[in-house]
Order: sequence, then C-alpha cells, then structure tokens
Amino acid sequence: MAVNIAIDGPAGAGKSTIAKAVARELEFIYVDTGAMYRAMALYLIRQGITPQEKEKMEEACDKAEISIIYENGAQQVILNQENVTPYLRQEEVGNMASVSSANPKIREKLVELQRILASKENVVMDGRDIGTCVLPHAEVKVYLTASARTRALRRCKELEEKGISCVLEEIEADIKERDYRDMTREISPLKQAEDAVLVDSSCLTIDEVKDTIIELYRKSQEEIGV
Ligand code: DC
Repeated sequence: MAVNIAIDGPAGAGKSTIAKAVARELEFIYVDTGAMYRAMALYLIRQGITPQEKEKMEEACDKAEISIIYENGAQQVILNQENVTPYLRQEEVGNMASVSSANPKIREKLVELQRILASKENVVMDGRDIGTCVLPHAEVKVYLTASARTRALRRCKELEEKGISCVLEEIEADIKERDYRDMTREISPLKQAEDAVLVDSSCLTIDEVKDTIIELYRKSQEEIGV
C-alpha cells in the first residue's frame, strides 16, 4: 500500500522546500497541490474571469484539464496539454488561487486528482487541507508554520534573487491577508489536523525540519512493524 506524508501550513512556511527534500531522501514522489490550484487560477485569469465572478469560475473550471507529470524528478503541471509550470509563481496567479481555491467545485475536482495520485504512489503531498481532508489517513501529518515576518523575509529574498524588487511590509500584509482567507474560508479552511505534529520553522534550518519529518516517518513505520 502507498505511504502518504501530508504537510500543511500557511504560505511561505517552507512546505515545498521541505517536502521536496523529504521526498528526495525517501525516494517518494512530491506533490505540490498549491500548483494545481495555481494552474486552475491561471486558466481563470486567461479566460478574463475576475475573483468576484463565482458562477463564471464554476462554469469555466470544467474546461480546465489539469494533470501532473515529472521531468527529471520535478513536478510539471499540465493545463489543457500546455506545461504551465513557469507561470504559476506569479503574484497575480497566487492571489487568484487564494480566492478560486475557496470554490467547492474547484476543490472537489482537484481533491479527486490528489487522492488518485496518493493511492498509487508513496507521496509527500503539501497544501492546506491534506491532513484534514485529502488524506485523512496519511501515515505522517505535519503542520509547518513560521511567523508572518519570517515568511515575508523569505519571500522578499526569493524575489530579490530573481531581480524583482519588493517592499517587505507589502509582502507581509499580503501574506497575512492570504492566511486570513485560507483560514476562514467555509470549505476546507487551513488548520492543523488533530493528529498533525506542529513544526515551527522560524528558527530551524531546512535540514533540521527535514530530519524531524524523516524521524516521524521512521517512527510511524516502526509502530506498524515495518
Ligand atoms: O501553496 P500555494 O501558495 O502554492 O497555494 C496557492 C493557493 O492555493 C493558496 O492560496 C491556498 C490554495 N491551496 C488550497 O486551498 N489547498 C491546497 N491543498 C493547496 C493550496
């Protein structure tokens, strides 16, 4: 049976970096569910749909075929036969995704895809509702967080490395707004699953967080006698 590791947490907590590192070490597949919501958001933006147009979103989402492939171990998101991975990290796409991911029809469609992936392969899957909704029986559940300031600093560094200038306060305000939307939405809000282990990465290195999760995985395997 496939083994599942679920990592949830707010934007910028380091989920994807950590999940990738854990997946590499355990030779599991890494599934970035945020990228799927971003691909859907990109599709909606391209259709000229605004975040306020809920009905249009629901109509349009049926026409977006999203799938995942791996190239040299890296996840690529395919939207209606186009590899859209290079466009997914734009702020505009992230902001739309934060709104459109609250839509039940969009969630239903993407959650189904995520469950199929996790039933076939050993996965490290990251997102907002993996431990609470997508994979409630995951062998390991982690809720990874960091302070809003730490996350904003990380995001600014990432943008500056790409030659994009940014204002720390604006990025922090954006992060707080996104947290609020993700945590207060009606369907599958971001929250720590009761059986998830809380890891605050504010003062930890990537390797420390990775090792903590690998240790949780090993313990879970010992418990079931593997
Ligand atoms: O992790 P991210 O920033 O790439 O996610 C983009 C948006 O998608 C974010 O606002 C939250 C949403 N999301 C979600 O609702 N459920 C998930 N499992 C993953 C992401």
